[in-house]
Amino acid sequence: MAKNTNSIGFFLAISLIGMLVSHSNQETLPCALKEYSTGLVCVCNSKYCDYLDDPTPSEEYVFAVVSSSKSGLRFATTHGQFNLYKKYYIFDYDQLIARSMEAPAAESIEIEVDREQRWQKTQGFIGSISDSIENILKMFPRTLRKHIYQSFFTQHGINVDFIRVLGLGVSEKYLEDSDPIFGSWERGEKFAQTLLKHLNTDSNKTKPINCNILLDYEGGDAPMIANTTNHLEVYKQPLFYTMGHFTKFIAGGSVRIAAENKNDNVDVVAFLRADESVAVIILNRNPVSVDVGIQDTYRGAVLFKIPPHSIHTVLYI
Ligand SMILES: *[C@@H]1O[C@H](CO)[C@@H](O)[C@H](O)[C@H]1NC(C)=O
Ligand SMILES: *[C@@H]1O[C@H](CO)[C@@H](O)[C@H](O)[C@H]1NC(C)=O
Repeated sequence: MAKNTNSIGFFLAISLIGMLVSHSNQETLPCALKEYSTGLVCVCNSKYCDYLDDPTPSEEYVFAVVSSSKSGLRFATTHGQFNLYKKYYIFDYDQLIARSMEAPAAESIEIEVDREQRWQKTQGFIGSISDSIENILKMFPRTLRKHIYQSFFTQHGINVDFIRVLGLGVSEKYLEDSDPIFGSWERGEKFAQTLLKHLNTDSNKTKPINCNILLDYEGGDAPMIANTTNHLEVYKQPLFYTMGHFTKFIAGGSVRIAAENKNDNVDVVAFLRADESVAVIILNRNPVSVDVGIQDTYRGAVLFKIPPHSIHTVLYI
């Protein structure tokens, strides 16, 4: 939990959410996709919500890559090994459905990861629950409130640190006050791009990111949107996942390490985590797939093909 936790607020919110803070034993469950004309969301209700156990391998030369994409991947996990001189295809959601190997013309990039070159320590990511959100949450069933809480604040979810905002307008806003667009990949991508730029333009003082976790649709856009018509569903926006690619895998105290790349439409950042494992985040903003080679000074080489408009967290020790 965050050092910044407001303990009284914390207990208030916990009592509203109606659960004890305990280690949840959620298994990995895939997103329940729902399509709008504007894009794809993942639906959570009392009976179902998606989760991901941290797939970081414990063996050397093994990697896991967690992927999300415009076309519908949401924390999809692929495992493999360094130095096998093969290409790992991260198939996009529509390719999996259509069983098609076809991909648009590819670009290619090379990322050099060097954990001996270190920059700033991260301070972590903070999510806030405001008074207005508590009022919305009260109207939802207890088990769904628990899913909302777990999705945001536990390791099976996106592991954001918790803070309760007293009053309004306190948090630094990444999202401008804007109407929700259901399933907008562009907004999620924009957030990731902004954050990557922020993380890469260093100074050793990274500010924590604050955001509201959930809003009703009149309240604006947020990572999760509550259905205040039926009070039975909550929608995880693409933003929830693009944010989660950072928050879930880069706990406070992780140190940024060198990760060079030269493609303007691919953004990369890498961290050495407290447990000495490496997390490399790759955002492909190209409308085409990209061949990505990672050259790690300790582990050697691995090659992926990643889909258009997608984000990936590559994990290895
Ligand atoms: C940032 O901090 C790290 C230690 O955490 C240090 O090694 C590095 O030199 C610092 N970088 C700058 C630009 O001050
Ligand atoms: C919210 O629930 C209502 C009633 O079940 C449904 O008609 C509506 O489409 C839902 N809203 C969204 C954004 O899915």
